[in-house]
Amino acid sequence: MGTTDISILAIESSCDETSASIIVNGKVLNNIVATQSVHEKYGGVVPELASRAHQENLIPVVHEALSTAGISKKELSAVAVTRGPGLMGSLLVGVSFAKAFAKALDIPLIDINHMQAHVLAHFIEEPSPSFPFICLTVSGGHTQLVLVKDHLDMELIGETQDDAVGEAFDKMAKLLGFPYPGGPLIDLYAKEGSPKAFTFPVTRMPGLNYSFSGIKTAVLYFLRDRLAENPNFITKNRADLCASIQYTLIEMLLIKLKEAVKQVAVTEVAIAGGVSANSGLRAALSTLAQRKGWKVYVPEFEYCTDNAAMIAMAAHYKYLSGEFVGYNIVPLAKMKF
Ligand code: KG4
Ligand code: ZN
Repeated sequence: MGTTDISILAIESSCDETSASIIVNGKVLNNIVATQSVHEKYGGVVPELASRAHQENLIPVVHEALSTAGISKKELSAVAVTRGPGLMGSLLVGVSFAKAFAKALDIPLIDINHMQAHVLAHFIEEPSPSFPFICLTVSGGHTQLVLVKDHLDMELIGETQDDAVGEAFDKMAKLLGFPYPGGPLIDLYAKEGSPKAFTFPVTRMPGLNYSFSGIKTAVLYFLRDRLAENPNFITKNRADLCASIQYTLIEMLLIKLKEAVKQVAVTEVAIAGGVSANSGLRAALSTLAQRKGWKVYVPEFEYCTDNAAMIAMAAHYKYLSGEFVGYNIVPLAKMKF
């Protein structure tokens, strides 16, 4: 490692994945992720348990990132960490560690906005979108439309006013009796069902905003009424229910995406976040792209879900522009762009 190399250790602990990554001169060398399975039996992330699991996992994950990259602590140029948005207890573990680590090594600290990093995951591997482009970030915690003008110049142009779309997938999956996270199971069963079998309301919010709480309530009452008539209603109609729910969620996502692309007149569209793994969304987006002449970008799944490689990528750009913070920063549960 030469003295002019830029080597950064990046840490992500905003929700339920503890992750560390090393990036050298803009190239991500690894992406170590410890997934917390403790939440499965609770049907969602339990913040208190997430913080404790980060405490257990963080140091081993950092050690693994350094050792598999073949880099010693002394060779690091900076430490980067997710400052927000996220669960405060979870963020505190990563931020406290990163501050102490950077201070002990006497190297700069870089704070990263988790949502900006989801977008920058598109720059980890080729091909990357060209500016300006629109990124639809869809996960268990976020649903955002972002106008990306440059690596560090982004504008939030629309977002959910209540549940995130992944949360909606998971909550409706729970109503169907699936374990957490149920989004991938809805995707699986939807493949054998008819998307038009049942009709659920498409909520239209003003501007480029989303709302996913209405469909969840509609499905709740729909199931309650049908189950009263026939206790086997879900088992008998599982595939059709999954296909119809998924179809409605995708419809809502794409209506606003189309509006956004039209408003800002771009032709490059990217999707990010765990829900971008959904096969129905990918298929619908690719059909739409062909019709509209858009170029669509979807990162590798490893970089769609929460991970430190995207934090590392964002950190590289911030290092190049000299954006460092003091060792006295505090996490921001509701960090803005
Ligand atoms: O980005 P992510 O790993 O974590 C955050 O929430 O930040 O996203 C997880 C979300 C969960 O809600 C999960 O159900 C959803 O992504 N998900 C899917 C699929 N794979 C993951 N939802 C629908 N279809 C899928 N194939
Ligand atoms: Zn995320």
